[in-house]
Amino acid sequence: MTSTADAGQTGFTLDRFAQHPFYLEVNKRLVALTQLAKGQRVVDLGAGTGAVTKLIAQAVANDGAEVIAVEPSETAIEVAQRNLEEFRGAVVRFIEGGAEMLTQLVKKPVDAVFFCNAIHLVPEKDHVLHEIQQTLREDGTFSFNTSFYMGAEPPEAEQFYRKWMIKSLRVLKKEYGLSPDKTRAEARHRLTEDEYVALLLSNGFKVRDKEVVKVQMPLSGFEAISQYSLWIEGVLPGVPLEAGAHALTEGARLAFEELGITESPRNWLLVVASRA
Ligand SMILES: C[S@@+](CC[C@H](N)C(=O)[O-])C[C@H]1O[C@@H](n2cnc3c(N)ncnc32)[C@H](O)[C@@H]1O
Repeated sequence: MTSTADAGQTGFTLDRFAQHPFYLEVNKRLVALTQLAKGQRVVDLGAGTGAVTKLIAQAVANDGAEVIAVEPSETAIEVAQRNLEEFRGAVVRFIEGGAEMLTQLVKKPVDAVFFCNAIHLVPEKDHVLHEIQQTLREDGTFSFNTSFYMGAEPPEAEQFYRKWMIKSLRVLKKEYGLSPDKTRAEARHRLTEDEYVALLLSNGFKVRDKEVVKVQMPLSGFEAISQYSLWIEGVLPGVPLEAGAHALTEGARLAFEELGITESPRNWLLVVASRA
């Protein structure tokens, strides 16, 4: 388990962000678009702390229903297990591992695979899509959403994002004497909508539904994402998590204050594909 794959480093999980109503809404919308049936077997890849796992389990709850949550971070799995311990109606299993080895982890074909808010983290997307394709039954569906693609930041929000970063960097320098280590920035190339579609087509899928949902994020949403390890490492590479979290939280607050805004928009791309 590498630290970059670890969503669950103590105190720096996605859990706080995942409680926000707008986050629940984009994930609920993806589950609704997928049109799951009761009693199905579903994989939730990159399940994190289980926010989407629960929505899927509610949608399939019935005899025979099973949700297999696959997640590389042991700590995130522990939080997810706690978040789902009261849930009844479907069997929920947790498997520690990455999307790259899905066919080794889940051997019996499943009805649907979800990969929520995580596909952008995977460098080997062709390989992972092949693994997903092999894990699905004929006509099975693959659903994903992401807010890290080219187009996630709407033009009207560019000023906010620029200010947020400038102010965070200033706080980091002034209060900690630190700057991000640009040489450690992972080359996380953001794909466009069209590139995601092309990737699906070339890996044996056809696109059934595709939507862009514009979400209005309040300051508390930006403060919560500022406490998440993968976000901090992505925007402030090489900076200790505590310093990064403080700088980003303060930066967001100052940017909101200076612009006199109460929310800022962000786009989520939602895609449901099926085996061609
Ligand atoms: C932003 S969280 C999303 C969690 C959950 N799916 C949700 O939507 O709330 C991204 C998750 O992807 C996981 N992840 C990172 N690399 C992965 C990989 N190669 N395969 C599967 N999951 C991965 C991280 O550990 C993290 O839990």
